[in-house]
Amino acid sequence: MTARRITVHQIQQMKLKQEPIAMVTAYDYTAAKIIDTTNIPMVLVGDSMGQVVLGFDSTIPVTVEDIVRATSAVVRGTKRCLVVADMPFLSYQIDPNTTLKNAGKLIQEGGAQAVKLEGGLSVAPIVKKLTESGVAVMGHIGLTPQSVHQLGGYRVQGKSKFTANQLLRDAVSLQEAGVFSIVLELIPLELAKEISSNLDIPTIGIGAGIHCDGQVQVFHDILGLDPDFRPKHSGNYADLSSIVKRALQNYSDEVTGRKFPGHEQSFSWSKDKKND
Ligand code: KIV
Repeated sequence: MTARRITVHQIQQMKLKQEPIAMVTAYDYTAAKIIDTTNIPMVLVGDSMGQVVLGFDSTIPVTVEDIVRATSAVVRGTKRCLVVADMPFLSYQIDPNTTLKNAGKLIQEGGAQAVKLEGGLSVAPIVKKLTESGVAVMGHIGLTPQSVHQLGGYRVQGKSKFTANQLLRDAVSLQEAGVFSIVLELIPLELAKEISSNLDIPTIGIGAGIHCDGQVQVFHDILGLDPDFRPKHSGNYADLSSIVKRALQNYSDEVTGRKFPGHEQSFSWSKDKKND
């Protein structure tokens, strides 16, 4: 029997059982395959691929086609994880039909089980339309990277009483619109605690402290794949850039020193001639 994927219902049950929820991003088949062998229940095909995979300075240039292609690779690499696909910049604001069509692409062509979109009260009507159409939706408030130019940079949100109250109101409006969980990005831990305790659905924090019901991190950040970028909130689980660099340097040295390939990596007429 094939392994069953984790469902949004199971993710919601984890909050009730007070089981912390781990989530990580993935953008390709090989990484997804590794993640699926752990006990991480949820994978996000994030538009952070704009920075960590495509080399842009924001998530804004990422297209629906980029996410569809990456999502289908991540879905092929996983059997167990719930796969959430990000709705890119302006793919859900133009009109309800375009939003439904774009969400449909992520689910039908990409194979995602859920979509994620940024914003609070202002996107609640479109979230309602999606959830009423049978789409599982994850919200995302606090620092919303697609609005980086409006927010004036990647900075902590909800520091004043006024903006904290706005974020609490945003979270409640998303829950009422039917999201199954909400990402809280870069907000004070006290506010994340208040939001988490006011909601029935799980909050998934990134730079939002210990009181969230779960945590999400960018794959490249937690593994130290970019030696020039290590956000304060990502933790330090590996230093893969130096391991990969060392391996590549060894490979290059062996090629230039005519040590690679050796006999073990070569094929010979004497053994293979009859079978070609
Ligand atoms: O795109 C992404 O990786 C995200 C996370 C930061 C939550 O939205």
